[in-house]
This record gives sequence, C-alpha cells and structure tokens, in this order.
Amino acid sequence: MIQEQEHTVTLVINQSIEMGEFGIQEAIQLFELFGLPYQELFKQYFPIHQFPKKYEITSQTLGNYPFVDVQLRDLDLIHKVLNRSILLHDILYTLSRGNTLEELAQNLLPQALQYVQNPNLSCKCDIITSYFKISQERRVELIEQVFGEKGFKSQNTINLTDPDILYYVIITKDQKYIAGCTLTKKKKRREKNFARNYELPNRIYLGPVSLAHDLAFLMANQAIVQENDFVFDPFAGTGSSLVACSHFGAICFGSEIDGNLMKGHCIGYLNKKSTYLKDPNFKQVKPFIHLNFNQYNLPIPNLIQADVHLPNFNPRIDSFFDAIICDPPYGIRASIQQEGNEQDLQANRTAIYRRMFEVARRVLRKGGRLVYLYPLFKGMEKKVEKEEGFELIDFREQKMVEKRSRLLVTMQKL
Ligand SMILES: C[S@@+](CC[C@H](N)C(=O)[O-])C[C@H]1O[C@@H](n2cnc3c(N)ncnc32)[C@H](O)[C@@H]1O
Repeated sequence: MIQEQEHTVTLVINQSIEMGEFGIQEAIQLFELFGLPYQELFKQYFPIHQFPKKYEITSQTLGNYPFVDVQLRDLDLIHKVLNRSILLHDILYTLSRGNTLEELAQNLLPQALQYVQNPNLSCKCDIITSYFKISQERRVELIEQVFGEKGFKSQNTINLTDPDILYYVIITKDQKYIAGCTLTKKKKRREKNFARNYELPNRIYLGPVSLAHDLAFLMANQAIVQENDFVFDPFAGTGSSLVACSHFGAICFGSEIDGNLMKGHCIGYLNKKSTYLKDPNFKQVKPFIHLNFNQYNLPIPNLIQADVHLPNFNPRIDSFFDAIICDPPYGIRASIQQEGNEQDLQANRTAIYRRMFEVARRVLRKGGRLVYLYPLFKGMEKKVEKEEGFELIDFREQKMVEKRSRLLVTMQKL
C-alpha cells in the first residue's frame, strides 16, 4: 500500500497582547473544520496516551510558539484554513531547518530544489522573528546569506510586488532557523484578509459596545459556522457577531432588549467616518441595524426586540439553531459601576449567564456550539464552571485594560 507523504509546515500565529492565545484556539478549530482532528495536528507535541484537552494546549506547551510545526498529508488544507483564519499570519511549507545559518543551507530538503532552483519562478524573501527586533540592514544581510552563493543559491528572479513564491526565514526565540515558503500569488493572499473589509472603524452603524470585527470572526470560527447554518445572538446589539456569521453564509437571527439600539435612536449612531456614507448604494433607511448588513451586501437577519429573561422568550422551535454566539451584557449598569457595588454586579451577571444556558439548552441542536464572552474582574479565577448538558470545548483569556480580562468560551451541546 502506498503511504501518502507527510509534509512539515509551520503555522505562524499572530502574536498580540490583545489576542492572547486565541490563535491556538482558532487553528485547532479550523483544522478540525476541514477534517484534521487536533490530536493529529499536534501529534508530535504530546504522547497519545496523555493527550491534553484543547484548552490545555497553550503557548507554553507548544515549544517555539508563535511558530508551530505540524505535519500535513493534504497541503490543500493550508489554503482552506488560511482563507477563514483571522489570527494565522501564514502557514509555511518547510524547506529547511538548522541551528545555524550554515546548517540551514546544508539541510535544504530535496523537494525544495524545485522552487529554489527554478529560474522561471519569481520570489520575494523576508525574515520573521517574534521575540526580538532586527534592523533593516541585518535583515538584508541575512537574506543574502541564506539565499545567496553561500546559502540556497536561489535561481529565482526577484519580484517584490507580486512574486510566485514568498520565502521566509524564521528566527525562533532560541535563535534557531527555519526556512519556509508560501506558494500563493499576492492577489490570492489578499483574499485572506477578508476580515479587514469589516473593520469596526469603517462600520456604518455603531453602538456603545459594538463587538470588534476580528473577535466576531474568531467567535464564528469557534462555532464552526458554515453556509446555511442557523445562528442566533440573543444579545444582538448592533449585530457585529451576526455580520461575521452572515459572511460565512449563515442564516442569522438576533434578539435585543433595547429597541432604541436596533432602531438607531439614542445610543446607536451613524459612523461619520464610514466610507459607506459615500457609497451610491447608501440609503439611510431605518431600522439602523440593517445598515450594517446592507454595507456588506449581506442578507438582513431575522431580528426581534425581546428580553431573554421573559418566561415565554422563544426565538424559534426547540433544537433549531446550529450555533449561538453572543457577548452578554456584563451586568454593569453605569450607576452600579460608579458605586462599585460588586454584589449587584455579580448577581446580575450570574442571572444573565444562567438564562443564556437555559435558552441554549432548549434552542440549540445536539452538537451545536455555544460561543460566548465572559468578563473577569480583579481577583476572579480564570476558570469555567461545568454546565449540565454541555461539554467545554475550549476557553482562552483576552487581557483588557486595567487588570480586566475576558474569556472566550466554546461549549458544545451534548
Ligand atoms: C455587550 S452588548 C452586545 C453588543 C453586540 N455584540 C454588538 O456588537 O453591538 C450586550 C447587549 O445585550 C443587550 N441586553 C441586555 N439585557 C438583555 C436582555 N435581558 N435581553 C436581550 N438583550 C439584552 C444590551 O442592550 C446590549 O445591547
């Protein structure tokens, strides 16, 4: 029997304080979405009989983070994953690795020669580091060392604007080297930045706590939202989470207690900086929340004004939704926040989350995902309580201002 060949690739995860370890969480879910279980993805990191839970896979357990080496049989997965990813900077096909630059040049894999020594292919080279900065001069010097006469002896022509191949040399935090390449033309790579089109500063209609576009997409990825899925946000606000789900082809439903927010009175406002104001298609029609879907040519979601606490709150029949994605209110009313009444705050919050689970238990289908944000205040432990009827899939912390943070939690209905 012919064994399909395994290729080593390096995931280059965007590392930012705000996004914490959301990148690992996202990589796990996206590879799973396209058919590769996380045990297979990270098999070289952990012994099979002691495989950690998803949320136990962290930057500490993944050696050279934010560079993560994984084995793939199917290289098509690279494009599928990248096309949906927010926090994967790139996935590089590994060409060589070494403890020194000399070793890097000597260890060039045979399959790399077809790229490096092909004069018909154009290229651009760059250096990626994570834990330190290097000057532009050093960058150029390194590129010459790696790709020049003493290195790979690259035959490619240089094309800085739209090369056939993008080569990267990674310098890891323990000063080792990995060379890799991507084989995607710039035009295709631009598609990967789809999320940029949805940036909040250019969103036409905003509220006081509109969810950041990248977080909304990360949540949609946690919920593995797919075309024609039914998705619900019980705390829809200005609809940010639903915009992201709608981009992936979901049929969206939302409820919101504050009719003023949905209809653009009082706290919701038109964003004067949005370029959509100058768009010939822009027609100022109410309710305003619709504008956020018109802006991106997305279908208008099914929205109701409703309080989730009402006993007869019932957005759809039981087991209807494939996913629920939400950013519940933090239980902070302005007055409470100023007076710092911790007890009221906790009680409000507990009630809201309890209700969210009650609703999810009813309207989510078996196997459906509940993805939500959970704020942590000073002194609170970073943990997620067990919830009857749900399996905890993953949770990660996002640091925010003044010692506050929040958890992005993914549950699956049993
Ligand atoms: C943190 S915000 C969500 C913001 C939203 N993701 C957005 O992008 O605009 C929480 C929202 O829940 C709404 N809300 C608060 N209590 C509610 C309730 N009992 N039922 C439904 N919605 C409620 C608030 O009006 C607020 O818009």
